[in-house]
Amino acid sequence: MLNYSTYLNELRDEAGENYPLINPHTREEIEEIPECTNEQMETAIAKSLAAFEKLKTWSSAERSEVLERTARIVEENSERFAKAIVNEAGKPVRFAKGEVARTVETLKFSAIEARKLEGESIRLDAANNGGGRDAYTIYEPIGVIGAITPFNFPLNLVIHKVGPAIAAGNTIVVKPAEKTPLSSLLLREAFLEAGLPEGAFQVITGEGPRLGKVLIDHEEVAKITFTGSPEVGKLIKSQSGLKKVTLELGNNSALYIDESQHERLDDIAQKAVVGAFSYNGQVCISTQRIYVHEAVAEEFTRHFIEATSQLKYGDPLEESTDLSALIDEKSQKRLLEWIVEASHNGAEIVHGGKACQNGIEPTILKSVQASDKVSCQEVFGPVVIVNAVKSGQEALAEMNNSNYGLNAGIFTTDLSQALQMSHQLDVGQVLVNDIPTLRFDHMPYGGRKDSGYGYEGVKYAVREMVKRKMISLNYSF
Ligand code: SIN
Repeated sequence: MLNYSTYLNELRDEAGENYPLINPHTREEIEEIPECTNEQMETAIAKSLAAFEKLKTWSSAERSEVLERTARIVEENSERFAKAIVNEAGKPVRFAKGEVARTVETLKFSAIEARKLEGESIRLDAANNGGGRDAYTIYEPIGVIGAITPFNFPLNLVIHKVGPAIAAGNTIVVKPAEKTPLSSLLLREAFLEAGLPEGAFQVITGEGPRLGKVLIDHEEVAKITFTGSPEVGKLIKSQSGLKKVTLELGNNSALYIDESQHERLDDIAQKAVVGAFSYNGQVCISTQRIYVHEAVAEEFTRHFIEATSQLKYGDPLEESTDLSALIDEKSQKRLLEWIVEASHNGAEIVHGGKACQNGIEPTILKSVQASDKVSCQEVFGPVVIVNAVKSGQEALAEMNNSNYGLNAGIFTTDLSQALQMSHQLDVGQVLVNDIPTLRFDHMPYGGRKDSGYGYEGVKYAVREMVKRKMISLNYSF
């Protein structure tokens, strides 16, 4: 049985101070989390460096096997991981179980990528005087990676950094979100049980900006990988000097439904409910802005309201619960203010709009101004707008009228429409005949504009965690 108590006690003894971890649903304290000191972070980096010397000697097969074994251990302990996610994040258990299953898959993809990290042969004789040589590239690990992770997927977004790091032969120190450190602590235990050297993956708990700055400033940390807000992401990039940086920074994801969809509106509405309200919309690619052709807007909205009204708000430990508490009171207050702002500016609240215990009701707003925060900022809550548009061109303009550019979705059976919009949308991923709230863990996942810098998705993350080296053999000398 995985147990992080010993490690937590070790951190506590040195930290001296703890902070209370609060269950978002019950608002009760569930654990005392060490407020680690800067010195503890520095010690972790030193241990990580020592572990890197060891890991460097491992073959890719050995790294792959440790990732495969970790996948099995996580799978065997699924219930335990899911419970940790429910308790710390308030994520309804069905979604928490889904996150654990995805984590197992992300680990398996990492195990595959560890074996596939291949360079290429370079034709030096393509250059004048370049002949007489064979040249090829290899990839080398970069060393210690610092990861700063968010609360919303406290397990899978951690493994999206740890899996590729280990696959590439690096070591990693994770600073998990203050509100959700338990899943990553359990994950550390799983890696140790699988045989990863002590120190190769460490978790240091405590205040984000302070401990994150230690990672950023440390000259032995080769890369920072961060998921969170654009404000923090930009700050990290400006402070990271020549370190490699990957930033995943959210979105206000848009979806277009065109007039060809009149017979599928009910099905699309069901999908849109999943996109807008899963884990209370606290997802970077939550479906936030829906643009519907005016010919089908009324009917779609009717189906969407009907499907939304079936959602059950409740205890996240119950299998039947769809929505529950938001991560904290601050989020609840902010969302309610944003809804009021939109409503003052003329938006119609066609579903929800009010507080519900420690969360808010699933909220649908119609006819929203593009300048309202619920439209132009990242909502990160169960709030979605539905606006009618006159054409695909108008939808495209609205969708691109955003500081963000992560995922976008289009429902259409018009191939030209699908292709034209796919080419013109200024986002990293376009999903045709799917909602934008779609991610498979091996696909490239990267944002444009304020949505980020660099890529995740196991294979792509691995490529951002290595150094390329070219070796040329002059056989004519
Ligand atoms: C995110 O919220 O950043 C990730 C969403 C996902 O992995 O599904």
